[in-house]
Amino acid sequence: GRVAVLLGGTSSEAEVSRDSGRNVLEALRARGVDATAVDGISALAQALVQRRFDRVFNILHGHKGGGEDGIVQGLMEAFGMPYTGSDVLGSALSMDKVRTKQVWLSLGLPTPRYVRLLSGEDVHQAAATLGLPVIVKPANEGSSVGVTRVFSDADLEAAVELAARYDGELLMEQLIEGDELTVAILGDVALPSIRIVPKGQWYDYHAKYVAEDTQYLCPGLQGQDEAEIGRIALAAFQAAGCKGWGRVDVMRDRASGNFYLLEVNTAPGMTSHSLVPKSAQQAGIGFEELCWRILEQTL
Ligand code: DAL
Ligand code: MG
Repeated sequence: GRVAVLLGGTSSEAEVSRDSGRNVLEALRARGVDATAVDGISALAQALVQRRFDRVFNILHGHKGGGEDGIVQGLMEAFGMPYTGSDVLGSALSMDKVRTKQVWLSLGLPTPRYVRLLSGEDVHQAAATLGLPVIVKPANEGSSVGVTRVFSDADLEAAVELAARYDGELLMEQLIEGDELTVAILGDVALPSIRIVPKGQWYDYHAKYVAEDTQYLCPGLQGQDEAEIGRIALAAFQAAGCKGWGRVDVMRDRASGNFYLLEVNTAPGMTSHSLVPKSAQQAGIGFEELCWRILEQTL
């Protein structure tokens, strides 16, 4: 059948998505799939009305014009169009970091302590309840857009202002200092974890997509630890109602060795710098095969 590779759009991650999408398109074509790029939700809506495709590979990142918040999934459901990845519920929930954490906590899954911030709230008091350092994030964003790590009270306001540019609802979390890890999920299997060692302070947008000196260790952990992170990540993914494929970001506290779940990405990056392809590679699944296996789930 004919496959639309849904990419681009108008979210803050649109360029990342175009990059991911080009790679997916190329891989599917190399596999003999009749695949065409469709950029953004309006173009998809037209294609749906005109019945131009039989299935959709969704690699549209982000929200507000992106494809990770359930909106585009609802549109495709309405047209009976098969698509890759999580459905409406898993996508919408995972885009909302606060509510994802609430679900995890209710199931006893570990995630950093947090305060949900609405505009006009006292940020200093919020930070005092958690204790510095904290990390301030828009509740719904990706690729570390609008995220600041805060070590001193004097920097709180600027962090909140930046995050508020992207979202009306903010999340202030206890900053876990230690290893940044991520686990790719394919179907109902956790692939080898990756430990990210950025050259700078942390794995921000620059370290994610621009820098060539970010180090990726895969598998990120050994033995029991590796088994444990895989178990937690898969449980977190399924608890959030996600399916198909995705990526769960995890911190490991340096002092205690405990894992803390950060979030689920339901259409994670597939750029040359991205993590899921690296993890799949370590599991013996090349990029073309990875794209094929994701698409196959819609057949
Ligand atoms: N949000 C970006 C695309 C990722 O998680 O890879
Ligand atoms: Mg994310």
